Amino acid sequence: MRLDKFLCDCNLGTRSQIKKDIKAGLVTVNAHAVRRPEQHIDEKADKVYYKGQFCSYEPYVYYMLHKPAGIVSATEDQHDQTVLDLFGEDRRNDLFPVGRLDKDTEGLLLITNDGVLAHELLSPSKHVEKEYECHLEKPFDEKQKVLLEQGVDIGEKSLTKPAVVRILEDNKITLTITEGKFHQVKRMLHTVGNEVTYLKRIRMGTLTLDSELPRGSYRRLTEEEKERLGENK
Ligand code: URA
Repeated sequence: MRLDKFLCDCNLGTRSQIKKDIKAGLVTVNAHAVRRPEQHIDEKADKVYYKGQFCSYEPYVYYMLHKPAGIVSATEDQHDQTVLDLFGEDRRNDLFPVGRLDKDTEGLLLITNDGVLAHELLSPSKHVEKEYECHLEKPFDEKQKVLLEQGVDIGEKSLTKPAVVRILEDNKITLTITEGKFHQVKRMLHTVGNEVTYLKRIRMGTLTLDSELPRGSYRRLTEEEKERLGENK
């Protein structure tokens, strides 16, 4: 891999800034200053230092983010703060959120640079479960439950796939769906005569939102979480 690409992937700056820094002699490879950005290195074996700091390369990174309401699930946006803006030092320029949550939805969002895994998790044919906690405007009843479990008409080509419903309180349920249509949960509840007043994703496939993770924070996935998610690949 080229030295400038390696340093970019380590999230150390823009390609042009990094090129300048390499030319200025701020980068060493195996204790020798290297001034050619295009020089190839072995990212697994070579010891690279940038401004005296050791750079370790990971091709793929995986974070669990507890998305707060009020920010958008995008990599950039002209008006709103994005989920990637929450990543300070750890921000690599190849990170993206796996799927979208509405601006007012909170909860679990996987942030990675692994396009293959993202594709597998989002592919409709894989039927990956997404579980949401929903607070509702009106009390939830058995009739609504049966309808959601059977599948409802939200104006798409076909009915929604059967959902799994757990009633937690009069106005609080969890809903597990295997699709990801635009505003799907809100539209499903609307169709059965209710309205969502608060929505939080608590699980995606094998990955459950860490209850210790404060809103707006993120952490790396554990080895076990990565392994279990990888079973979707
Ligand atoms: N369904 C919705 O309605 N909104 C979300 O953010 C996610 C699922």
